[in-house]
Amino acid sequence: MSSATKPESNLQEPDLSRQNSNMAGQTSEPPAAQASHEESPATNHAARPALVFSGVSKIFPDSTHALEGVSFSVSQGEFFTVVGPSGCGKSTLLRIASGLDTATAGKVEVDREHLGYIFQDATLLPWRPVIRNVELLGELHHFSTQERRKLAQQAIKTVGLEGFENHYPDTLSGGMKMRVSIARTLTLNPSVFMFDEPFGALDEITRERLNEETLSLFIREQFAGLFITHSISEAVFLSTRVGVMSPRPGKIIDIFDVPFPYPRDPELRFTPEFAELAGAVSASLRATGGKA
Ligand SMILES: Nc1ncnc2c1ncn2[C@@H]1O[C@H](COP(=O)(O)OP(=O)(O)O)[C@@H](O)[C@H]1O
Ligand SMILES: [Mg+2]
Repeated sequence: MSSATKPESNLQEPDLSRQNSNMAGQTSEPPAAQASHEESPATNHAARPALVFSGVSKIFPDSTHALEGVSFSVSQGEFFTVVGPSGCGKSTLLRIASGLDTATAGKVEVDREHLGYIFQDATLLPWRPVIRNVELLGELHHFSTQERRKLAQQAIKTVGLEGFENHYPDTLSGGMKMRVSIARTLTLNPSVFMFDEPFGALDEITRERLNEETLSLFIREQFAGLFITHSISEAVFLSTRVGVMSPRPGKIIDIFDVPFPYPRDPELRFTPEFAELAGAVSASLRATGGKA
């Protein structure tokens, strides 16, 4: 069963001071969610969406039809996860949001100056130690040496890698590499944080720990989160809402509210309520004919 309540943030007092200021044509939140798939034009939601997809379609030059009419929005203090079968267009959606690719139809509204993007691979530079990898984005944004060192040290502390500043990537575990990747993005203080299956290659224990750390980060930073995963359990554990995508061309066919308040105890995963919601998401996914 999915929640039938309005999909507002479960967080207390979202930090609206981090709202984007350069977005036009705001839309509002959908009214809700007995697994709805349309954003409503209702206008009574307090938080302005930080990321809005409106009718986004993508047909590649070789005629591959990757996305069709994708519409949803994510507000500050919301964590929206998309689950969908392999090849349904999830990465394409994030690439379009980040400006790495363009939509064939529809539009995305987001402040790209404050957009963080975590890829499936940690994409670290092997010849640089942890601290210099974390400083990379600050370098590209021309932060002063002092400023980027300070931001990198803070971010390394946030992801629990203090003491590893001078280690090289090939000496780190997969989970630690992903922490470095997250720290690198944190130095830009993103208001919209997108994750493309970041923990898919990790063992279950590491993945669960990183899920818990991602939630702590979310609760502290109150960004607008857009997360992609194959794991229904990961989706439900992290999110305020879960969107289910159909096989290619990818469409959002259901949106489930996740009613559990933050902070979430790791044991939540073993409650009947959690299992019930995960089961509903799974059934929706199966109904699409796709398997995450
Ligand atoms: N540049 C491209 N040209 C043609 N087809 C592409 C291109 N990039 C991705 N595709 C195809 O588009 C579909 C969606 O890809 P992708 O977004 O990576 O899926 P997902 O991340 O959901 O697994 C896939 O069938 C993929 O092969
Ligand atoms: Mg992908």
